[in-house]
Amino acid sequence: MQPVVISAMSRKGGAGKTTLVRAMASAFVFNKKRVLLIDADPNRALATWAERAGKRGTSSPLLSITETIKMDELTGIVDETFEKESADFILIDTPGVGGGWADTIAMLSDLLVTPLILTRTDLEKSMETVTWYDRLRERVSDPSQLPPHAVVITRFVVKSGKSVEPVSLGQQELLSEIRSLMKPVPYPMRERLAYQDMDNEGLLGARAAQLKADDNPLIRGRARRYDDALHEAIVVTKAILSRMAAAPASTTKAGG
Ligand SMILES: Nc1ncnc2c1ncn2[C@@H]1O[C@H](COP(=O)(O)OP(=O)(O)OP(=O)(O)O)[C@@H](O)[C@H]1O
Ligand SMILES: [Mg+2]
Repeated sequence: MQPVVISAMSRKGGAGKTTLVRAMASAFVFNKKRVLLIDADPNRALATWAERAGKRGTSSPLLSITETIKMDELTGIVDETFEKESADFILIDTPGVGGGWADTIAMLSDLLVTPLILTRTDLEKSMETVTWYDRLRERVSDPSQLPPHAVVITRFVVKSGKSVEPVSLGQQELLSEIRSLMKPVPYPMRERLAYQDMDNEGLLGARAAQLKADDNPLIRGRARRYDDALHEAIVVTKAILSRMAAAPASTTKAGG
């Protein structure tokens, strides 16, 4: 099976790209998939995260990381991974700015994901990403080669544990607007401490397993919130992937 290339893109800094990539990596590894992370952001947030996880024992033999901000190099890495079929998923994290590199990454991806926080500013900034994508569609010779684009609402705050209603009327309005403008995937990522803490603590499933193995029952009890986050990451990742199945099949990818 050829790897599936998924790239996190947003022209809004701090929108949650790196967090989304870590969450997806956690979901894939939990499902026994081999994941290659490519950090294409000079800030190296994803690369340093993976290194930290390795040191803390919360990475996985299924997870590998490489980094580059050079597009010819990145294309080479993707090509090689296709040739060797050495990963099931390639997840690319990108910087929160626009640039020529975005077109290159889009054309070698099978799927683009854009995280979106429910605020007016984030909505307007994300429209830039949507506009860039629409323009790209006009510029490429064969628009069917363009990967589908999935928008994921993130840092979603709900009224109570089980509710999927946003907290305020203002959020409800923004949500309706976003739904009609960008058709986000139906499951949001909630605002969760586990997503923040995973920056320090590695893969969600590996961290949960580590906590569950602790002698102290109070520490074992903390595994729950990583399990909850992992469960959500799996549901959201599945919803993201289903956007690919819905799109017209594209056949010639980099190295494919
Ligand atoms: N669902 C969430 N719940 C809680 N915190 C979140 C969530 N998503 C993102 N964050 C937090 O928001 C901050 C920004 O997220 P992140 O670094 O993923 O954004 P980014 O788009 O990669 O930023 P940049 O453009 O700088 O690379 C981080 O502190 C992260 O922990
Ligand atoms: Mg980032």
